[in-house]
Amino acid sequence: MTDSALVIGGTRFIGRHTVEDLLDNDYEVTIFNRGNHENPFADDDRVTHVEGDRTDDSALEAAKSAADPDVVIDCVAYHPADVERAVEIFSDVDGYVYISSGAAYGREEIPKREGETPLCDCTPEQAESDDSDSYGPRKAEGDRIVFDAAENGVNAMSVRPCIVYGPDDYTERLDYWLDRVDTYDRVVVPGDGTNIWHRAYVEDVASALRIVAEEGEPGEAYNVGDRRLVTLEEMVELAADAADASVEVVHAGERELAAAGLSLDDFILYRDYPHVLDTNKLAALGWESTPIAEAMRESVRDYRASDRDGSEWDPGRDAEESVLEILDTL
Ligand SMILES: NC(=O)c1ccc[n+]([C@@H]2O[C@H](COP(=O)([O-])OP(=O)(O)OC[C@H]3O[C@@H](n4cnc5c(N)ncnc54)[C@H](OP(=O)(O)O)[C@@H]3O)[C@@H](O)[C@H]2O)c1
Repeated sequence: MTDSALVIGGTRFIGRHTVEDLLDNDYEVTIFNRGNHENPFADDDRVTHVEGDRTDDSALEAAKSAADPDVVIDCVAYHPADVERAVEIFSDVDGYVYISSGAAYGREEIPKREGETPLCDCTPEQAESDDSDSYGPRKAEGDRIVFDAAENGVNAMSVRPCIVYGPDDYTERLDYWLDRVDTYDRVVVPGDGTNIWHRAYVEDVASALRIVAEEGEPGEAYNVGDRRLVTLEEMVELAADAADASVEVVHAGERELAAAGLSLDDFILYRDYPHVLDTNKLAALGWESTPIAEAMRESVRDYRASDRDGSEWDPGRDAEESVLEILDTL
């Protein structure tokens, strides 16, 4: 009999790729969302769409009845209360997978490991907040609910992605850099270019979610991120290769940036302290990651076909040009 999957969300980025991965692996898929975003599977008769808001228990229950899922992938649990309700409603499925985040880790260490690196605490105020500052604490609290549910016999697991990139990435974080590489021949990289913020290719996150649903241990969390990490400078070089562009990477330190009114943190995907997730636990389940050059080629192809340009992250090309002038006079 064909396995069935319910994806809570499913039409934008990670959820969308998860639906594709599930279809490629012969699942019957139901997506559950409010219908505010265009449904890329509208013409695909392998995908059933159930409309509703996940914060409405009866709507979530109706989605469960419609899908009769073996596995549930939860892409839209942003508050602990969402996870609390989901582990009750899906207490009898073979696998409920909550998308947590690398932001759930509460201590900077390299690498961050499941079961070893402490998670963020979460106050009752943070649990209900919508602030970005409370995102990590809320995700961590969701993880703890998953662990408690598993103690009570629920097949609940958690997956912690780092920064996700690839086709359909509406956050446009990588697009900023792809736009720079495609448009200019000199690209300012903050600092000495060696800082690392672990990233995860979206198709590998999608396969991780399915593999964890199928093979994961209830009550366990699994990090997901590219098996090979690249520094910010290497990422720009990889992007230039994928775009068949020749760019000069120009390092700008704190002082040169400050002279043009910029700081290191004005550049998206720059992070002072390295963020690295250990992915061995996931790999032990049989998960593999796409070679990064291939992942970047697909990202560039999709970026060029889209109208995304990452401009919301742009620190200002004029200021960058001033930095380049300052550096040229040194
Ligand atoms: N991007 C990253 O770097 C990153 C890193 C770590 C973790 N994550 C996690 O990944 C998840 C987000 O993935 P995604 O946005 O790419 O997933 P997605 O499933 O492709 O897109 C989000 C979906 O959720 C639906 N939705 C939003 N609010 C809803 C609600 N109240 N009830 C029902 N459906 C709702 C949206 O459609 P409608 O608006 O039509 O309802 C849309 O289909 C989050 O849990 C996030 O914390 C992301």
